[in-house]
Amino acid sequence: MLNFDFYNPTQILFGQGRIADLNKVIPASAKVLLLYGGGSIKTNGVFDEVMAALGSRQVTEFTGIEPNPSYETLMKAVALIKESQIDFLLAVGGGSVIDGTKFIAAAALFEGNDPWAILEKRGTNITQALPFGTVLTLPATGSEMNSGAVVTRKSINAKLAFSSRHCFPKFSVLDPAKTYTLPVRQIGNGAVDAFVHVMEQYLTYPVNSPVQDRFAEGLLKTLIEEGPKALANPHDYDVRANLMWCATMALNGLIATGVPQDWATHMIGHELTALHGIDHAQTLAIVLPSMLRVRKEAKRAKLLQFAERVWDLHEGDDDTRIDTAISRMQDYFEQMGVKTRLRDYGLNSSHISTLISALETHRMVALGEKRDVTPVISQQVLELSL
Ligand code: NZQ
Ligand code: ZN
Repeated sequence: MLNFDFYNPTQILFGQGRIADLNKVIPASAKVLLLYGGGSIKTNGVFDEVMAALGSRQVTEFTGIEPNPSYETLMKAVALIKESQIDFLLAVGGGSVIDGTKFIAAAALFEGNDPWAILEKRGTNITQALPFGTVLTLPATGSEMNSGAVVTRKSINAKLAFSSRHCFPKFSVLDPAKTYTLPVRQIGNGAVDAFVHVMEQYLTYPVNSPVQDRFAEGLLKTLIEEGPKALANPHDYDVRANLMWCATMALNGLIATGVPQDWATHMIGHELTALHGIDHAQTLAIVLPSMLRVRKEAKRAKLLQFAERVWDLHEGDDDTRIDTAISRMQDYFEQMGVKTRLRDYGLNSSHISTLISALETHRMVALGEKRDVTPVISQQVLELSL
């Protein structure tokens, strides 16, 4: 096992009716900025519950944080904070609202000229951030219990990530019943995103880490079992609860302890979103199956473990079991309603060179657990995904 630091200070308030407990975890004197997206929280009752829990606190609203939150929109919230006396941020929504709030929290106290530098330096230049909490409405990203965020600058087609230990939520409220109103597309996206988060931390090479491996395999098997049930029975509380906790556990740092990490699929996926507007999880479903096929030799030992323990494949030779496991995973993505080919999203071979140039512009030229995913390898992966 590799050496590691594990730090995660986020308090989780899990279960039905927990939004009311915002009253206990937000200081009574707080001047709150309530941040949300395109309005789903207004139609499904979440907004009303949050406002009731906030009681007599002074609340200002900032609405319109879009999927794949943009620097352009987020900077408007930073300006609002500087004009008002806000001292606590509350993000209510999915990963985009939470990520956007992390950037706003850091940008509001950033000492440099332009907070875009936070993205350019991947968050290493953050020294402080406003305190914030979250109410999660879409299980997928794990943003509710981690310190990372991804921000898009539309004017230059850049989608970049940052992280900082100053950007953990103080708390996150996870009420599975609040996910009943998710559209089918977002249920599928959420399960696939969480699945790929586990894979980025699990499917590398062995370092004798059975605890982390078995946690990871448990999360993968749970997503495989529960995901389709959420599509079939959208109001099954237990299914939603298991999916929600799974997505949080998939990217809160626990399964990353002491193991190598890949993330090449995510970095290529971010370029697909920045250039073509494809949903985050859709990009992962396109890239990961080909990524595993192209890098089969380097990942052979873990692919065999994945085949045996996650897909219960015990028959046939090694290559057959590996190939079957990758195909089963791709079938699962499709079963969750997430298409896995570039052509499914209207893209063809003519789009690949621009994607590779974007990776180079963003210095994504040595990706993966062994830093051997060069632009040439990324190109092979995308060509195999056509
Ligand atoms: O904007 P509203 O009206 O709220 O609608 C949203 C949005 O249109 C809707 N939605 C959310 N909860 C709902 C709901 N609709 C009905 N009922 C509900 N309960 O769902 C749509 C998508 O929301 P979004 O927040 O964009 O989705 P997701 O949670 O998948 O977040 C995606 C973003 O997170 C980033 C992605 O890159 C992308 O920008 N990621 C963040 C990570 C992190 N911080 O650790 C890691 C991930 O790998 C990922 O990169
Ligand atoms: Zn992701």
